[in-house]
Amino acid sequence: MKKVCMVGTGYVGLVSGACFAHLGHTVICVDNNAARIENLKKGIMPIYEKDLKEMVEACVKKENISFTTDLCGAVEKSEIIFITVGTPSDKKTGDADLSFVFAVAADIAKHMKDEYKVIVLKSTVPVGTAEAVEDIIKKAKPAAKFSVVSNPEFLREGFAVSDFLNPDRIVVGANDAKPLSVMRELYKPLTDKGFALLTTNTTTANMIKYASNSFLAMKIMFINEISDMCEKAGADVTDVAKGVGLDSRIGHKFLNPGPGYGGSCFPKDTMALERMAKKFDSPLKLVETTIAENNARRFKMLSKISNALGGNMRGKRLAVLGVTFKAETDDMRDSPSIGILSELHLNGAALDIYDPQGKKHGPEFFPYAKFHDSAAEALSGADAALVLTEWPEFNKITAAEYKKLLKTPLVIDLRNMYKLEDMKGVVYHSLGRKTVK
Ligand code: UGA
Repeated sequence: MKKVCMVGTGYVGLVSGACFAHLGHTVICVDNNAARIENLKKGIMPIYEKDLKEMVEACVKKENISFTTDLCGAVEKSEIIFITVGTPSDKKTGDADLSFVFAVAADIAKHMKDEYKVIVLKSTVPVGTAEAVEDIIKKAKPAAKFSVVSNPEFLREGFAVSDFLNPDRIVVGANDAKPLSVMRELYKPLTDKGFALLTTNTTTANMIKYASNSFLAMKIMFINEISDMCEKAGADVTDVAKGVGLDSRIGHKFLNPGPGYGGSCFPKDTMALERMAKKFDSPLKLVETTIAENNARRFKMLSKISNALGGNMRGKRLAVLGVTFKAETDDMRDSPSIGILSELHLNGAALDIYDPQGKKHGPEFFPYAKFHDSAAEALSGADAALVLTEWPEFNKITAAEYKKLLKTPLVIDLRNMYKLEDMKGVVYHSLGRKTVK
């Protein structure tokens, strides 16, 4: 089994670290945020992710995961060092901001001694980053023996633990053969179960990650456009998606229309890929259009909401169900709700929000709104319900309950949570389907 260290205990670092420990490796999780490390030692997770807390607790008991702020000790004790710090979008340019990755690489170099180390980039990074990290380490420690590997993650928030342990593929990019055997051993518990491991060079590994996320973002925006057309043409987008998805070359997944994609990955990665493509003088028109349409989506959603409310939002009280960027997460980053609700507020609507996890971060984003402890509380006496996130508990709300709780029985559903036949008795607006009354 391997000795591994994760530098950065954010989403990717913590989930991957816990999963490697669960697979039997010895993992040290390092972060310069002392409060976070103290909390982790007490079993307090910085994020909400299904099964993560239990997995960490079990690994702590088995003593194969530990938490520290001491990078030096962690580097010394580990053969494989993962860099799992953030790569946010540069606000001005849209490029991936690599300053955290480079700073960590320089710090790691300081603590490297004589043993060979594999430095793994798991954060989503543009092509050329592995080479840049290599240069940084070489400059800081010319005698250091190491290889830099690109090992992108494909974890969905909310399902990250399960995605890690049941991957569609594991991608390992390296520019020499030496680190490949180390990485193969690291992933052996998964490849022994038959999961695929693809080896390639670092540039290709980076491209695989960006192309995958951008393709999925494009697929979502494609079904969103088809949904808009279905609405006008009188077709039903649910059946269209079903019929299209039955073609095994296309597949059913990521064909759910919605208010646009959000989260910490698709918006950032599509933008970074667009910028990279331009630098290589090879513009990606489909990705450019995907980004532009996703940005425009909130205004389309606003006019849909406004039309449903009879053209006037002023003084209307809306019960908003869900604000996180998708279900099963407390993450608000780039959530479509942010733009939509701020426009509704500016247009004079009063907002009563309920989200099973959104109360933690939501109030920072919506200081003008009231947060409730249940859907029923938010719905009570409102002029309309607006469903923005597909939390499974919203599925249980019946048309009769909406009718009983709302002042006027109007439901605007931007996630197509309900079957049309189940919504008789309320005016029900959804995406790409006829309005029922
Ligand atoms: C995404 C990818 O799915 C992961 O494979 C990848 O590893 C991760 O980014 C990353 O790069 O770290 P995530 O951001 O957790 O994962 O979220 P998704 O489940 O992919 O959803 C992204 C957005 O698309 C959400 O706003 C969601 O509501 C929206 N979406 C998704 C739709 O509107 N329709 C769909 O059919 C699917």
